[in-house]
Amino acid sequence: MEQVQGNLTAPALIETEQRKHLFYETSHSPSLADLAGYENAKKIIDFCFITNPYYPTPEMLADLQENFPNLIKSYPSSNPAMGQQHLATVLGVNPDHLIIGNGATELIVLINTTLIDRIAVPVPTFGEYVEKLKDHRDAELFNLRPDREYSLDLTTYLGWARRRRLKALLVINPGNPTGQVFSLDEMVDFLEHAKDMELVIVDESFIDFAGDPIPSLLSVADKFSNLLLVRSMSKHCGVPGLRLAARVRTPIFDRSIRSSNAMSRC
Ligand SMILES: Cc1ncc(COP(=O)(O)O)c(C=O)c1O
Repeated sequence: MEQVQGNLTAPALIETEQRKHLFYETSHSPSLADLAGYENAKKIIDFCFITNPYYPTPEMLADLQENFPNLIKSYPSSNPAMGQQHLATVLGVNPDHLIIGNGATELIVLINTTLIDRIAVPVPTFGEYVEKLKDHRDAELFNLRPDREYSLDLTTYLGWARRRRLKALLVINPGNPTGQVFSLDEMVDFLEHAKDMELVIVDESFIDFAGDPIPSLLSVADKFSNLLLVRSMSKHCGVPGLRLAARVRTPIFDRSIRSSNAMSRC
């Protein structure tokens, strides 16, 4: 007879333990398929994560489906030049300033492990920026105040980072989880004042949801040699399962990143 605890049988308990384990050592949610099973996952609406429900369109999906056997049965190029060119045309940037990653998360790992010693991070934030550092203590946390609705004041933040002699800082625009949006003018003004920083990471993964015209720094990125833009494609293209993202930057630190990126493709 199966052991019973409460109304859970032993195998069910093991499964529950296994699922709990998916939450350990990461603040990132497990996949719905892991939690609910592949078939059930299709019936669940995930309110915890914002993605574009209108993309990919049925035509795009049909195209992908048609080409899927060929795609999974062939190796992709390990040289990203063509992909970079296509994406650069869509984004209107120089292809040499782009690095494509397996999701922004891969790019965050690369940035954190190759470019950063100590970095200012406003919290609450998207956890990977702290968790994927070589050492969590390399993040200096700028605590956003609940009584100010967790809003970030860019001038105060910059002053705080300077007083701590930090040379790198992160801004997520629009903020995750706060949703706070800075206009393009506010961001440009901030970058003008932050020219003494070695690295300013601006994560624009949700920027395409932030208004029309989209207040992205893409069009002015070339003016700021310390700026590094991170853009996940999971959200506005509605394809978190494809793991696509890009990083835009004038190529100062690119050699170190490109070589680690090439390694991760091997
Ligand atoms: C601000 C921010 N940046 C990056 C990511 C990661 O995106 P990706 O799915 O491309 O790894 C997330 C995921 O939620 C996010 O909220």
